[in-house]
Amino acid sequence: MKKVKSIILGCSLVAVALVPMFASAHGAVTPQAVDTKTLPPVGSEWREQNPYRGQKEAIKIGTSAYAENCARCHGLQAQSGGIAPDLRLLDRDCMDLKADAKKQACYKDTDKYFLESIRHGKVRNGAVYMPPFENILNQEAMWSIKAYLETLRAVK
Ligand code: HEC
Repeated sequence: MKKVKSIILGCSLVAVALVPMFASAHGAVTPQAVDTKTLPPVGSEWREQNPYRGQKEAIKIGTSAYAENCARCHGLQAQSGGIAPDLRLLDRDCMDLKADAKKQACYKDTDKYFLESIRHGKVRNGAVYMPPFENILNQEAMWSIKAYLETLRAVK
């Protein structure tokens, strides 16, 4: 019994020691509020597609909102170091589509998936791979980040 206890204690000590290492390797862990006052408000309904695509001010806000909230896992400038998916590739399945209507429908699908992903985070079998951002970021900040990521779309 005594031995079992010390093994358990040993394991939890290792876990405690690893947590700060992980946190410091990826920068601040506290989510940052984002000031979106300079953007046209999108209203209280959740949009199905990015209302800010290609808009300069949104891209600027999205750049810093991304750096403060997403880069620690998804990498600086979205160049994933392998910890989390490479967000430059989010729209990759749409880029090859020739017909414009199909392409726009595809972007809309990705927009929806993006918003769902950040509102609810990624939780599987009780493990939090990504925290939910609903109530931390407003909808304007979420779409600004998407507008920023669109400027980094990887062309294949
Ligand atoms: C604590 C680390 C962490 C943070 C912070 C984080 N993510 Fe994630 N994110 C992940 C991981 C890990 C996955 C993959 C989850 C899985 O395997 O289901 C993921 C998945 C995603 C996906 C789905 C990608 C795909 O290809 O399926 C999107 C979109 C996304 N994150 C966007 C964001 C945005 C935007 C932010 C900042 C607001 C953010 N994430 C912050 C870790 C994180």
